[in-house]
Amino acid sequence: MRPGTRRPKLLDLFCCAGGAAVGYERAGFDVTGVDKEPQPNYPCHFVQADALTLDAAFIAGFDAIHASPPCQHYSDLAKRNGNAEDWPDLVDDTRTMLQATGKPWVIENVEGAPLRSPIVLCGTMFPGLRVIRHRLFEANFPIAQPHHIPHAEHPRCHTLDKRKGHYGKTCEWTDYVSVNGGGNCSVAAARDAMGIDWMTKREINEAIPPAYAEYVGRQLMRHLRGETHGKDRVKRAHTPLFEAACG
Ligand SMILES: C[S@@+](CC[C@H](N)C(=O)[O-])C[C@H]1O[C@@H](n2cnc3c(N)ncnc32)[C@H](O)[C@@H]1O
Repeated sequence: MRPGTRRPKLLDLFCCAGGAAVGYERAGFDVTGVDKEPQPNYPCHFVQADALTLDAAFIAGFDAIHASPPCQHYSDLAKRNGNAEDWPDLVDDTRTMLQATGKPWVIENVEGAPLRSPIVLCGTMFPGLRVIRHRLFEANFPIAQPHHIPHAEHPRCHTLDKRKGHYGKTCEWTDYVSVNGGGNCSVAAARDAMGIDWMTKREINEAIPPAYAEYVGRQLMRHLRGETHGKDRVKRAHTPLFEAACG
């Protein structure tokens, strides 16, 4: 930001312990999180509330909104277990609420969620991350899909499952890990792999790496500054990741 200009305010809905929040902070936003549960580890300003029934006057105080509604309903695990209906299905209601605000917004969720024309981010796209974690991002402003990463070629993931052929042949500190409820690595290795050093294992299972939100947040910042235009946008969509994000 230019000296003297204020940091734009971002409302981080369904914030949990703030993986997204830290990414948006790094992109230059002043972040406030909302979650229906207490979030003692949330690193920014926090409000405990239902994200879908917020007061319009409260929302009006923000420049942009990010929302990460719960993903369990759409997950592969719920489909395999046949219990998707045990979890809330909030993506469509969240989009309806965001559209009514008239603000720039982002919805993040897992593959299988009903997001419209989303981009897909994965830990393999970010130098320094070692996590295989696909997340979808839908927005009402242009966000670029990094096209230079071959997604078919995921590296081998560390496992604690003795039935897997590569059990015992990988290291959780140097190989990629998959951070999930099943516990395929220690919490310390999960933190290292995701670039998050403040969360419990339960919180980190729910989080996106801050690098994903920083990537989207930098493009949101450019949008707020009026810097994204047709031709420029297409060109940037095909440049390497951080060039696309940072210009
Ligand atoms: C997937 S987590 C969010 C992860 C977060 N974006 C991050 O990167 O760390 C979803 C969160 O939504 C919260 N939640 C579920 N329903 C909610 C509601 N109606 N209002 C506010 N928060 C809600 C849950 O408590 C949970 O913390």
